[in-house]
Amino acid sequence: MQNKNKIGIYGLGAMGRNIALNIADKGFLVSVYNRNIEGEFHIVEDFLSTEAPSNVQGFNNVKEFVLSLEQPRKVLIMITSGSAVDEAICQIMPYMDSNDIIIDGGNSNYLDTKVRVEKYDVRYLGCGISGGWYGALNGPSMMIGGSNSAWNETRYLFQLIASKRNNQSSCCHWFGENGAGHFIKMIHNGIEYAMMQSIAESYDVLRKIASMSNNDISSVFEEWNNKELNSYLMKVSSEVLLIKDKSGCLIDNVIDRSSQKGTGIDFAICALKYGVPAPTIIESINARFVSSSEYRINTFSMNSYKEAHQSPNVLLEVLFDSVYCSYVIAFFQGMDLVQKVSDDQSWNIDLMDVAAVWEEGCIIKSEIFKDLAKYLESKLSVQMLLEKLTKSKVENLSKAIGIGMENGVPMPVFSSSLNYYYSTCSNKLPANLIQLQREYFGSHGFEKIEAPGRICHFGVDLDI
Ligand code: 6PG
Repeated sequence: MQNKNKIGIYGLGAMGRNIALNIADKGFLVSVYNRNIEGEFHIVEDFLSTEAPSNVQGFNNVKEFVLSLEQPRKVLIMITSGSAVDEAICQIMPYMDSNDIIIDGGNSNYLDTKVRVEKYDVRYLGCGISGGWYGALNGPSMMIGGSNSAWNETRYLFQLIASKRNNQSSCCHWFGENGAGHFIKMIHNGIEYAMMQSIAESYDVLRKIASMSNNDISSVFEEWNNKELNSYLMKVSSEVLLIKDKSGCLIDNVIDRSSQKGTGIDFAICALKYGVPAPTIIESINARFVSSSEYRINTFSMNSYKEAHQSPNVLLEVLFDSVYCSYVIAFFQGMDLVQKVSDDQSWNIDLMDVAAVWEEGCIIKSEIFKDLAKYLESKLSVQMLLEKLTKSKVENLSKAIGIGMENGVPMPVFSSSLNYYYSTCSNKLPANLIQLQREYFGSHGFEKIEAPGRICHFGVDLDI
């Protein structure tokens, strides 16, 4: 009898194809399937005839695909998140047993994953996979949650295909029941948005105020990438600035409008729901909305910017520190949300494990985060902000914002990072006035300094 295949990959987009190749490269027999819809009929055939090695078997029939797998069957769904995931599950479920394993490797909302774990009579894993197509092929970072027994039976496979740290351990971790893995991926993506926007804000200053060419900005990013700001996204930014098209530099020919697939919005909703302040990350999401807003007008044009008073070297240092502060604060805000949601969901997530799974292979991989991981021994503490954001770094962040605001260069991430820092470190915030405003118009109560926790009201408690 022919050997059954080890795992099935459902969905042959860039991520699915490369994960299939990665697993096949480790010597396993892999089944692949792609949905049969107009425009996609040829996909399985093309994959088999071009990239796939002989240990990959393709199917156009979903029943044959599922039944080609050894038991317990393992199907890794690699498709865009949303209702399509439920459609895929419903398609394969008739051929699955309750002991079989479904793994959703897309960017599903962790709350949807939680529902699916309970809804489908199968062992279910939600697996956030980071690293783009390159990571999928060469070693992604994998953030897993769901059925613990399914994890124990599949971890050898995940650990083989995931990226490796210096000590050769894998960037692959099970964070807890139900949606814990997709939750950590959502946090990763929130931080990703903030890092991208902080680099974009420094690019904006360098081109508008320092009048630097794309080549020169690319060299600056390359230099930063060789220093403390070493990060995958800095490298990417340096490289994309050099790409040419027929009219010259591609970047100058790209529309200044960015979109998003949804994990950033999921992050923002979650942070607001849990009352966790994450303005740096939320502003990076807003920045994408503003870039696509119908209300944009061209009041400021390239030649309306004044040169900064600082020398180019000072400007570079100021921006370097601004990106540094934004990275640190975005990481802090992301970890704060991990801590709160983990407590609420009883996941007991160790923040060290989160930092470790992001050490290699993922989009937010960065030296700063490796350094910050040292502060996470048991939980997040504000000591991290106080020690990493030195007086001179914060002053430089403030200078950068001054330059931007004076010249009409928007800096949503830089400025929200500074506001977050000042608010966190301020011994007096004006929230006392907010308390009395609320009491005045709504009798919502207020707390006095000498009796914290006790809710007072104007008419009765003015003497305590
Ligand atoms: C990753 C990325 C990836 C994400 C894209 C697009 O870790 O590999 O986070 O999963 O889908 O970066 O995300 P947006 O469309 O939301 O920008």
